[in-house]
Amino acid sequence: MAMLSFHILHCSVFLLFSLLIHQFPATTAARCHRDDETGLLAFKSGIKADPSGMLDKWKLGTDCCKWYGIACNGPQNRVNSLDLYGAASYSNIMLSGTISPSLSKLQYLNYILLKDLGNLTGHFPKFLFSLPNIQVVYITNSKLLGPLPRNIGNLTKLQSLILARNSFSGSIPSSLTKLTQLSTLDLSGNRLLGTIPSSIGQLTKLFELNLSGNKLSGSIPDKFSTITMLTFIKLSNNNFTGKFPKSISNLNPREIDLGSNSLTGKLPEFLGRFDFLKTLNLSWNQFSGTVPKTLAHPELYTLDLSHNLFNGPFPKLTFIHVLDLSYNNFHFGDIPKWITSTYFISLNLARCGLNSSLNDWKPLGPVFYQYLDISHNKITGNPLPLLNSTTSLISFIASDNKLKFNMKHMKIGKNIKYLDLSHNSVFGNVPKSVSRLEEFNVSSNHLCGRLPVTKFPASAFVNNDCLCGPPLPPCKD
Ligand SMILES: *[C@@H]1O[C@H](CO)[C@@H](O)[C@H](O)[C@H]1NC(C)=O
Ligand SMILES: *[C@@H]1O[C@H](CO)[C@@H](O)[C@H](O)[C@H]1NC(C)=O
Ligand SMILES: *[C@@H]1O[C@H](CO)[C@@H](O)[C@H](O)[C@H]1NC(C)=O
Ligand SMILES: *[C@@H]1O[C@H](CO)[C@@H](O)[C@H](O)[C@H]1NC(C)=O
Ligand SMILES: *[C@@H]1O[C@H](CO)[C@@H](O)[C@H](O)[C@H]1NC(C)=O
Ligand SMILES: *[C@@H]1O[C@H](CO)[C@@H](O)[C@H](O)[C@H]1NC(C)=O
Ligand SMILES: *[C@@H]1O[C@H](CO)[C@@H](O)[C@H](O)[C@H]1NC(C)=O
Ligand SMILES: *[C@@H]1O[C@H](CO)[C@@H](O)[C@H](O)[C@H]1NC(C)=O
Repeated sequence: MAMLSFHILHCSVFLLFSLLIHQFPATTAARCHRDDETGLLAFKSGIKADPSGMLDKWKLGTDCCKWYGIACNGPQNRVNSLDLYGAASYSNIMLSGTISPSLSKLQYLNYILLKDLGNLTGHFPKFLFSLPNIQVVYITNSKLLGPLPRNIGNLTKLQSLILARNSFSGSIPSSLTKLTQLSTLDLSGNRLLGTIPSSIGQLTKLFELNLSGNKLSGSIPDKFSTITMLTFIKLSNNNFTGKFPKSISNLNPREIDLGSNSLTGKLPEFLGRFDFLKTLNLSWNQFSGTVPKTLAHPELYTLDLSHNLFNGPFPKLTFIHVLDLSYNNFHFGDIPKWITSTYFISLNLARCGLNSSLNDWKPLGPVFYQYLDISHNKITGNPLPLLNSTTSLISFIASDNKLKFNMKHMKIGKNIKYLDLSHNSVFGNVPKSVSRLEEFNVSSNHLCGRLPVTKFPASAFVNNDCLCGPPLPPCKD
């Protein structure tokens, strides 16, 4: 009897032990799930070059949960995240090859991130359709090409779809708007054609939308009123036509970038009601009319309205730091007073119809200009006091004006790199210190004398009264 119960006990201990082995192979054999290991090793064998050795420690028989870029979780200790990132644009931290379809063995995968690896080729990875839990697909800056699959809407758990800077082509599948859990959609920098699906309003959880740098066209669907959390809207560098979508008035965006399209019409007044709008870029379109006064609210940091057809008076924006109004139909005449009393980092007033004197440009305190462009105006006077009052200046572009001053007195600040004074009435001679600049142009002025030794070509000096010496013809004396 005792013997028998011992035997039973012995048997059940053995049974329990063998059950343990089968259920928890990872802990007992220090190995991850076989399917995960197999899938990842197949991924590795699809990689033809790994110059920085990021996959070197991915070896059969070692715990794949501890491999570089891999994370496991859950009671079964299965791989839930594959996260590799390179720096392909400026170093050899990259991968060349294809994304093996055997990754479908990673049945518990939630996140696949293959960021900036530079040289992954092939089509949209179809194996994603057999991963029931995939939430984040983040494959940027590689060479994936071909169309996005028509049934992309089947990836119903996706929260982020980020495929920026590949070569995907064709149109945006309309089923994409079935991905109602999406909060980030970034397809920027591909070759997508056609229109934005008009059902975009179904993506009610969308927070960030970036379709910039494609070949999309048609009007921007006026269907934003249901996407109330949409905060970043980037549709620049496409071929969109039509007007500024009115339904954006229902949102509270932080960034709107519609630059480099073919949009027309006036700017809506509601732009001024966005309490958190920090960046508005509408450059390189055909917007017209006056700029609404309401834009003058304190959160707005960057405003780029350059290369449009705006005209009329411009509102006072005393809180702005980056402003580009160049190449519109403005005829400001005097430099607006609020401009001289605002702390700009970058200010571009090229071709704004300015005709006052720089002598009147008296900043109210220390200024922090880094980039200042006042070219193609009729500005008179002497820029030296202004240049003297800002040490932060990196670039001063003032070509095609009526500036008149003796260049001999010019001090080249220690930060300045770009200086263009061409087509003015500058006189005197060219100081030696300009040789420190990266770009310099004083062509078409009234300068005279021997040129200092610089790296600049003759075109930077031509059309002056009597400049001489290399790269111009030799001096006569
Ligand atoms: C990219 O991959 C292809 C083929 O896989 C290879 O021929 C090419 O040299 C790789 N380019 C770089 C920059 O590594
Ligand atoms: C996509 O979903 C549809 C219906 O929900 C189904 O019929 C189809 O087989 C799915 N396709 C894939 C590739 O999963
Ligand atoms: C697309 O725009 C979003 C929102 O501004 C930004 O976070 C993201 O970095 C952009 N993508 C690229 C590839 O620049
Ligand atoms: C943009 O669209 C216009 C007509 O709508 C067309 O003439 C032009 O070629 C397109 N530009 C690009 C870059 O596709
Ligand atoms: C506005 O967008 C254009 C491209 O569309 C870009 O070149 C420019 O730098 C942006 N402006 C600002 C102030 O960032
Ligand atoms: C300066 O420009 C304003 C506005 O265009 C114009 O009314 C005024 O006559 C101009 N003054 C000079 C001196 O050119
Ligand atoms: C530049 O500023 C210094 C000190 O503030 C002053 O002595 C000098 O005369 C100024 N130079 C010019 C050209 O305005
Ligand atoms: C200098 O400016 C003139 C016209 O303003 C231009 O033709 C020339 O190429 C420029 N040279 C350099 C070196 O920037």
